Amino acid sequence: MARVEALLHNSVHSDFDFVTRASLHLVDAGGKRFRPLFTLLAAHFGKPDSEDVIKSAAIVELVHLATLYHDDVMDEATMRRGASSANARWDNSVAILAGDFLFARASQLVADLGADAVRLMARTFEALVTGQMRETVGIEGGEDNVEHYLEVISEKTGSLIATAGRFGASFAGVEGKRMHALERIGQLLGTAFQISDDIIDIASPSAESGKTPGTDLREGVPTLPMLYALTGDNVDPRLREMLSGPLSGADEIEEALRRLRDSDGLLRARRKLDEYAEDARSQLDSLPDCPARDSLSALVDYVVARTY
Ligand code: IPE
Ligand code: IPE
Ligand code: MG
Ligand code: MG
Repeated sequence: MARVEALLHNSVHSDFDFVTRASLHLVDAGGKRFRPLFTLLAAHFGKPDSEDVIKSAAIVELVHLATLYHDDVMDEATMRRGASSANARWDNSVAILAGDFLFARASQLVADLGADAVRLMARTFEALVTGQMRETVGIEGGEDNVEHYLEVISEKTGSLIATAGRFGASFAGVEGKRMHALERIGQLLGTAFQISDDIIDIASPSAESGKTPGTDLREGVPTLPMLYALTGDNVDPRLREMLSGPLSGADEIEEALRRLRDSDGLLRARRKLDEYAEDARSQLDSLPDCPARDSLSALVDYVVARTY
């Protein structure tokens, strides 16, 4: 991870100082480095020390970070990684361009890894933006809203974490069934990770998440706990009314958050999260018993535990 960190820092350096500053802003603000960590763990099923493994881990984090700059513009978020978001600190133009710059630097690194890696990253980015577009457009006639949600998060978040696993495996010389298992685990783990992120938006204070709770509510992004809170036998009528239109004031958001925390929507979302975690764990069985597998298992546990 120290090598990945050094490469990340080198990669965002530009001759134009402001570009470096705008990019370093969130690189240095923190972040869990969940995706590169997963890449390195996947690499431990083969030869983990190769330069290409490190490079691919840095690429995945750079692409992730680029999407965060853009996501905060779309979600009008003001806090990220416990710091001001780039759009809040500067403005939307700076945030969009800094995201593009990070993506450009990621693309230069991925070119070193060959045409297959470029193709995979391009497909991954296509899935990611398709998910973001599907979220932006919302459900269309007759679609099931939970199905729609699960498709969105699998595309916008699962896709990149799946590729993180595949990169780690393939650049460590892991191929065939094992590589596919690591990619599949990434897809499931990534989808679980987004469900946990959506639970955290409701259940956790900003001191823990580094973001502003209720951002999804304010932006009218329907997440799994909300969707579940609005179906079944125990629907809170006031919550239904609140979620049917835009929420404006801080008081309204606070009340909706309180009601959501008390609803069984949160409970049912946790159950869905458990299902994805269980699926990911069962995929682990196809991998050899080794310290890396134990660490992956701990990573699955972490994705569930971080919501409590
Ligand atoms: C946030 O990702 C965006 C999601 C896909 C949920 P992370 O929770 O991994 O953000 P950082 O990298 O730790 O800031
Ligand atoms: C972010 O989703 C997904 C991507 C960046 C592709 P969210 O909008 O739910 O993430 P946070 O909660 O702002 O980190
Ligand atoms: Mg967001
Ligand atoms: Mg978003």
